[in-house]
Amino acid sequence: MNPHPITLRDGADLDGFRRAVRWLMAEELAPQHVVWSIGDAPGLFGEDAVGEAPPVTLPRAVARLIELVVCHRDPERYALLYQLAWRVLNGERDLLEIASDPLVHRIDSMARAVRRDLHKMYAFLRFRRMRGEGSERFAAWFEPEHFILEAAAPFFIDRFRSLDWTILTPIGSMRWDRAALTFGPPARREDAPEGDEFEEGWRGYYESVFNPARVNPTAMRAEMPKKYWRNMPETASIPGLIQTAARRVDRMIEQEATMPAKRTPERALEAMWDQEPKTLEELNAVIAKAGPLVPGATQAVFGEGPAHAEIAFVGEQPGDQEDRQGRPFVGPAGKLLTKAMEEVGISRERAYLTNAVKHFKFEQRGHRRIHSKPTAGEVKHYRPWLMKELELVRPKLVVALGGTALLALTGKSTPISRSRGLARFGDWPGYITVHPSYLLRLPDETTRREAYEAFVEDLRRIHHIAKADPETGELRLAAE
Ligand code: URA
Repeated sequence: MNPHPITLRDGADLDGFRRAVRWLMAEELAPQHVVWSIGDAPGLFGEDAVGEAPPVTLPRAVARLIELVVCHRDPERYALLYQLAWRVLNGERDLLEIASDPLVHRIDSMARAVRRDLHKMYAFLRFRRMRGEGSERFAAWFEPEHFILEAAAPFFIDRFRSLDWTILTPIGSMRWDRAALTFGPPARREDAPEGDEFEEGWRGYYESVFNPARVNPTAMRAEMPKKYWRNMPETASIPGLIQTAARRVDRMIEQEATMPAKRTPERALEAMWDQEPKTLEELNAVIAKAGPLVPGATQAVFGEGPAHAEIAFVGEQPGDQEDRQGRPFVGPAGKLLTKAMEEVGISRERAYLTNAVKHFKFEQRGHRRIHSKPTAGEVKHYRPWLMKELELVRPKLVVALGGTALLALTGKSTPISRSRGLARFGDWPGYITVHPSYLLRLPDETTRREAYEAFVEDLRRIHHIAKADPETGELRLAAE
């Protein structure tokens, strides 16, 4: 049998791919009988037949993955996605759960690359006012790695709904006129405006908040790759600020020498080892006094629960609600955790709940405070306090909820999917499971329900393990 050619349009041709899948499935053409190409003559698979091809229903998680991966630059993307769709529709409905499957692995990493690219576009794109226009219009230049223009459009419409803006990129352009979105041809950098009066103000602000003592050009480049610098007004200041950073730090040190010492967590930590806290209250007083490492939090959120609780749950950091109420796990993720605990008979009052990091870190977006994940450095910073806390609580079992807790408890960054289950954290028997907020973030209901059930199953095991044998006082680890 000759392979059947399918040609899709350049870029992210989601509609074309969907129609092709319907048609190929109706024709029962297996992936090895299809050759995919990209070009200017789409529709080579017989438009008429496609109209009649019955729809195919893929699980939501697969459909979502397809939406992302069609944006990837890899010319093999459609062939790989068709293999995925074919296998899922031919009996492997749970294929995505097999992370070790080479196809799933490859498609997952493509999806991650596209998500990263989208994130960079959301974070680093800067609009400039267009000069000489009658009405007020804005334009921005951006160089994405993948074909993400259409996928990124809802974000920019949502954020800048009341502005008239155009985004120009080498892979295409899009314009929002406050009412409708239109896509246009690729653009050149010279088509974008160079600078505007806003930039002066923005640059001045950036220079004033730039902390020379924190200068780390390598980390800056990793966070904000250099290719984006050209488009961002504040980056014009960076080379000068870096060059003068050493001098400015010297000046800051001179000034600090004449100022009363600040209570940084490091200093509080040193003080802590001078007079080691003997109780949780003493430890909490040290943490409260030290204050947040990153400014913004309302208060420190301490662990909660009885000392000598059987199980200590370690989360990431307090969220918005926790920061306001000064108690751990009272927001949406906390409510989900409490519900799951109740389902298996773990009493929240008798467990100890705490976090790797004790202060809320966030990004302000309008009125909303959006959670920012703590860096490895921040986790390390709070780690001695967490260790002391566990030493004082003396639980029988320590549960790491998610990757940040795991990093805090082991000092290593390991994917939860590979480490889930029984563990050892130094002196403590441990158990590793997902963070409840991961369950809240899952995109579709079926996946969410399944992941929740797996989480409840983990809690059931945790409950079982933590019940010491009344004869020996030993944990039931051997039974697992
Ligand atoms: N997420 C956490 O990790 N901890 C909390 O206290 C709340 C949400």
